[in-house]
Amino acid sequence: MPAPSLAVSRETDIAVVGAGAAGLYAALCAAREHASVVLVSATPLAQTASYWAQGGLAAALAPDDSAELHLRDTELAGRGLVRRSAAEILVADAPDCVRDLQALGVRFDADSSGGLALGLEGGHSVRRVVHAGGSATGRRVVRQLSALVAAEPRIAVLEGARARALWRSHERCAGLICDDGQIIAAGAVVLGTGGAAAMWARTTNPPGSQGVGLLLAHQVGADLADLELLQFHPTAVIGIAGREGFLVTEAIRGEGATLHDSAGERFVDELAPRDEVSRAIQARLLQSGEQSVGLDMRAVDPAHFPNVVSALRDAGLDPTRELIPVAPAAHYTMGGIVADLHSQSTLPGLYAVGESSCTGLHGANRLASNSLSECFVFARRAVAHALAEPAPARQAPSITELQQLSELPAPPIGNAATRDALWRDAGIVRSADGLQRLLDNPHPLVRAIARCALTRTESRGAHQRSDHPQRDPSLDGRHVVVHNGPHAGAEELLTSAEQIDWQAWT
Ligand code: SIN
Repeated sequence: MPAPSLAVSRETDIAVVGAGAAGLYAALCAAREHASVVLVSATPLAQTASYWAQGGLAAALAPDDSAELHLRDTELAGRGLVRRSAAEILVADAPDCVRDLQALGVRFDADSSGGLALGLEGGHSVRRVVHAGGSATGRRVVRQLSALVAAEPRIAVLEGARARALWRSHERCAGLICDDGQIIAAGAVVLGTGGAAAMWARTTNPPGSQGVGLLLAHQVGADLADLELLQFHPTAVIGIAGREGFLVTEAIRGEGATLHDSAGERFVDELAPRDEVSRAIQARLLQSGEQSVGLDMRAVDPAHFPNVVSALRDAGLDPTRELIPVAPAAHYTMGGIVADLHSQSTLPGLYAVGESSCTGLHGANRLASNSLSECFVFARRAVAHALAEPAPARQAPSITELQQLSELPAPPIGNAATRDALWRDAGIVRSADGLQRLLDNPHPLVRAIARCALTRTESRGAHQRSDHPQRDPSLDGRHVVVHNGPHAGAEELLTSAEQIDWQAWT
């Protein structure tokens, strides 16, 4: 790494870290308000988790739908832990975000009369999910937003740059330092760095989903929450070289695909919420000793899901003739950086959007396709709030302050041993024994996940404890929050019991 120059390299109104759906949209929303933006993206634009997203955006758009119904489904799926105020915002604003994306040039799939085609997914009581290119929604949306970002003169894109540490100054987030030593001074920083599901051995996520934003935020004192709540997607391809973890979208079950055990029997309502379907599959696998169950999509029109069908064919599977071997895989981090209803973290000036954030919206089990909607609804709110704040007077940082900033360590990345440990000890079903083992893991986020999971002595949604198999009603609406002091250092994450507490968010 080149030696940092110890001088501010750029000044901007808003610095956005991460170029997934939430980050790109935040950057565009800020530019629309005539703000200057620096967008920091570690990966080329096409490699974010959003680009991989096969699901769509859930929005109450159908004549037989309403915000109230969407809210009810979100709360039912979330198993008594959904923060109602956040979910109300999501369901009210999602339709408008769909329209805004259309205005920005995203072409969603149409039905035969030219209206939006609405798909059905698990946990939704009506058809409510808009897609683009069938199961290529993430790719289509991210491509279009990336093109707009690239053409927008108010947005400077630092592609290939990595945020190494956030800059805390005068009790707020004042910017960040990149791994090449560039220091960016910003009125506000928006983290859209995605989740941590690639820290588990079997995952649907790209390798970059390592919870880096969570560590960056925590290092400067922002709270994290609900790290025990990791959603396992029921239908990831398993046992096929080169396609391990490939997601077969739930929308395919919405169009009639069915799940079968080794005896050929159906064993679960395929459109139940994800926690229920994943658990049912896991139970069958334990019973049979097999690695996978079969997904029968022979009755589904392959033309509706071209990228899934062609990926399966490339792997030597013909979904029009045979069952696809699937099993649950780590998919989505419901926990993350504690964020209020404007996406602001507990450190003023620092915002978290999309999967890196935890507003409490998803409770203990996210409703399918609420996550892309969340990216847009809450990224827009983050930017509106950040720009409405009176701009803090920028003070020239002292050499000592810059020196401290340049010495902050980069967040650690998990390795194969970490991934195996999380899969084994913090998998679909966990218990105190395995979780205790994780407390000695060298990776600070693994330890934090274990501490949260040990704290939640119950089974709820995605968090199933074999030693506490029941839901504890006294924990309804209560979130596990992880505190840290400023500049405590990622390595010090959760070294003492006092740093965890329970909070109820309204
Ligand atoms: C899927 O299409 O099944 C995944 C989308 C999501 O995670 O909501």
